[in-house]
This record gives sequence, C-alpha cells and structure tokens, in this order.
Amino acid sequence: MKMWSGRFRRPLNPEFEQWQRSFPFDKRLLPQEIAASSAHARALARAGVLSAAELKSLLDALEHIKHAESDPQFVRDSEAEDVHHFLERRLVELAGEVGLKLHTGRSRNEQIATDLRLFVRDAIDELQSKLVEFVETIAEKAKSAGNAAMPAHTHLQAAEPVLVAHWLLTYAEMVLRDHSRFTDCRTRLNFCPLGSGAVAGATLTLDREGMSAELGFTAPTPNSMDATSDRDFAIEFVQSASILGIHLSRWAEEMILFSTREFGFVRLPETYSTGSSAMPQKMNPDALELIRGKAGRIAGAATTLLMTVKGLPLAYNKDLQETQEPVFDAADTALQCVQTAIGVMRDCEFDFARMGAAAECGFMNAMAAATYLSSKGVPFRSAHEVIGKAVSFCLDRGCELSDLTLAELKQLSPAFDQDFYSAVTLDAVLACHDVPGGTNPARVRAALVHLDQRVRALQEALHAHA
Ligand code: ARG
Repeated sequence: MKMWSGRFRRPLNPEFEQWQRSFPFDKRLLPQEIAASSAHARALARAGVLSAAELKSLLDALEHIKHAESDPQFVRDSEAEDVHHFLERRLVELAGEVGLKLHTGRSRNEQIATDLRLFVRDAIDELQSKLVEFVETIAEKAKSAGNAAMPAHTHLQAAEPVLVAHWLLTYAEMVLRDHSRFTDCRTRLNFCPLGSGAVAGATLTLDREGMSAELGFTAPTPNSMDATSDRDFAIEFVQSASILGIHLSRWAEEMILFSTREFGFVRLPETYSTGSSAMPQKMNPDALELIRGKAGRIAGAATTLLMTVKGLPLAYNKDLQETQEPVFDAADTALQCVQTAIGVMRDCEFDFARMGAAAECGFMNAMAAATYLSSKGVPFRSAHEVIGKAVSFCLDRGCELSDLTLAELKQLSPAFDQDFYSAVTLDAVLACHDVPGGTNPARVRAALVHLDQRVRALQEALHAHA
C-alpha cells in the first residue's frame, strides 16, 4: 500500500513511479530512520496516542528491523517508495495495525530533514576521527625527520631551505582547519526537526524537547518551515569536504612531484602504487593521483547541492530529494581519500640526503646573505642589490656564494667580513628564521609539542561525542 493513494483515481505511470523512488539510495538512512522513529513513537505515547502495549510492540519491531538491517535480502523491496515507506511496510508486517499509527502527527518532510542531519553528524564524527589520525601520522613523520632540511619553493622555484618537519606541518595546519570547519558545521546542524510536521508544525502537541534530547540534538529547531526546507547543513558539510579535498590534492601533487626521478625526495610505497601495462619499469603514484582527482568530484557534489537549493520556494519541495546522493558520495569519497592519505604518508620514505643536498645549493642562502649585510649596516635594498650581483657572478662561474673569496666579496661591498661564511651555512640559514611559525629548529620542535597538545584536545572532544 502506498502512503498516499486515497485521492488518486489513476495509477502512476510505471516508469515515472520507478524514476521518482529514492529507496535505492536512501535505504542507507535506515539506521537514522529507525532512531528518529523510536523517538517519535515515545513522544506519541507521552501524548497519549499510543498505549504502553502499542509502544512496546512498535519499539520491539523497530529493534528487530535494526538487527535485520545489515542483511541485503531484508532491505530488498521493489515497492517501497523511500526509506520512510519501507520502514512503515516492515512495521506493519511485524507489528500489524499499530505500524500504521506511527505516522500520526508526522510527515516525511521532517523525517528526511532529521535523518539526513543525523547522517551528516555521523559522517562528521567518522571523518574527524580519521583527520586526527592523519594529523598524528604527519606529526610522526615530522618527528622522525629531525633536523633534515629541504628546499621550500615559491613559484615552484627553490626559494629558501626549511626543515622537512616544517614542510610537513603545513599539511597538519590545513587538516586541523578542516577539522574545525566540520566542528562548526556539526554545531549548526545539531537541531532536531522532529515535530515540524509537513510544513506548519505537528498537528499534535508532541514533546519536541524529549525527542531532541533522545537523539542527541542540542534543541528542537525553532521554525517548522525552515526545519523542513533547510539543507544548509548538507551544503556546509560538502563544502567543508571540498576544502579538505583541495588540501589533500595539494599534498598529493607535491608528493607526486617530489617522488619523480628529477626530484627524488620521496620513495612512494609500492603498496599504494601500480605498474604500467606497457612500460615494465614504471611505478605510478595512482593513489595520490586519485586523491588529487577526487577533489574535483567532491567539489562537484558541493556545486550540485548549491544549484539544487538555489531559488527553491519554501518549504519542502521534492527537489530536495536530490540533496541526498551528493552528501553520500562526498562523505564516502572524503573518508576514503583521508584513509588512503594516511597509508601513503605512513609508508612513504624520505631521502633526507637528497633533500638536504638540494637545500644546500642553488643560492637558497641568498636572502640570509642579504640579511647578513644589513646587519652590518647596509640598507636592505642595497644589500639585496649586492647579493644579486654576487649571485650573477657565481652563476657565470658555476659556484655558490660561499665559494667566493673574501677579496671577491669585498669588491662588491666593503661590509663583508670573515663571519659571512658562517652566516650562510645551511644550519645558520635555518636557525636565522627564529620567529614563532618560522623554520628555526627550536621553533619547529616547539610547534611539534604544541601540535601534540592540540591533537590530544581533539581526541578528548571525539571521546565526548562517542
Ligand atoms: N524521499 C523524500 C525525500 O527524500 C522524502 C520526503 C517526501 N515528502 C513528500 N512530501 N513527498 O525528500
């Protein structure tokens, strides 16, 4: 039996009937639908609509469905229009007539708004715990890099040396911002639409506070029209996942680049690579390429959501059914990308010798050299000019700044002295970036300690939700 056949004199066009069904994908919301339905059933009993015996038989049936839910045979139903219809059909099978009473005072419009919120909330919790694991993996790698150095790039040209740990911690910062975006999204979404009815509020005075508390929401939503038509939480979630995807794609791109023979900074794990069917020597960074590629897919889902909601009149419209699949796809994709990134990060190996050698050539001490001159009283702009001339001289000769004799240096500026050579060694250059957030080794060690504290705080917050 349909949920709405009474006023219809003609059956639906069979192709349309199939086409408009959401059950093939919203069956995924069955756990959330069961939880929300249990809360509604209890509220009905408190409102005197269900007897204690009726409530018990409904809750028993819901419990039964909860256990059968993982059986693919059980969730096969070619007639259920959506997950709400499916649940009603099973309840009637299991509990009889009383199964048809559950819909008293509620609408599928508030149900889907609730189920999808619960789904996004669970997805956030799962994703955040993976993000914390990713940050921990990055921190491990950074710790094991010690004082190893590498070139940092601007414009993809080698710029200044940094600690490998400093470079790695960049990605920890990005991921921590992603984590906090999900926290914000979770805080804003955590309000309970149950009791909003189809659009104007339930036709019974249901205990909305009780339902909200039972489902772990902060409070009931304040406005029934907003509650049933709002999909901001879905948009925010997928947009936050898009930014995460963009971050992972930047990391993946650098790892790909640094693993090329030309760079040779990192050896990617064979366990996350594939070969070429044509070129026997090849080992390709497929895991990283897929992470980079899937960022586009998540951003596409975010665009789908925006375009679906754009210009929709209040309140519920069936267009909103189209907001489910992009959420599912983005949640799955983001989780798999983070999972894969953790594996690649954990199992890759850095070639610190090669990275260090690259950090020691190519005039990456030029800015420190100019700073040296300015410490001798030369205005920085003039110092910049002098070092630029020195670099040009070295380029012709095929040598580094530290290969110039003091006499040669003094010809460029009388301010040069013997201590120039110790001011432009790799260690000195690294040490001179001695500001909070800089690559000075002591600063980086402090950043690692601080990162550990931040990770611990996040782990505690995760346990609080669990
Ligand atoms: N399957 C529908 C959806 O996902 C449930 C709500 C249907 N409501 C309605 N009035 N037809 O949006």
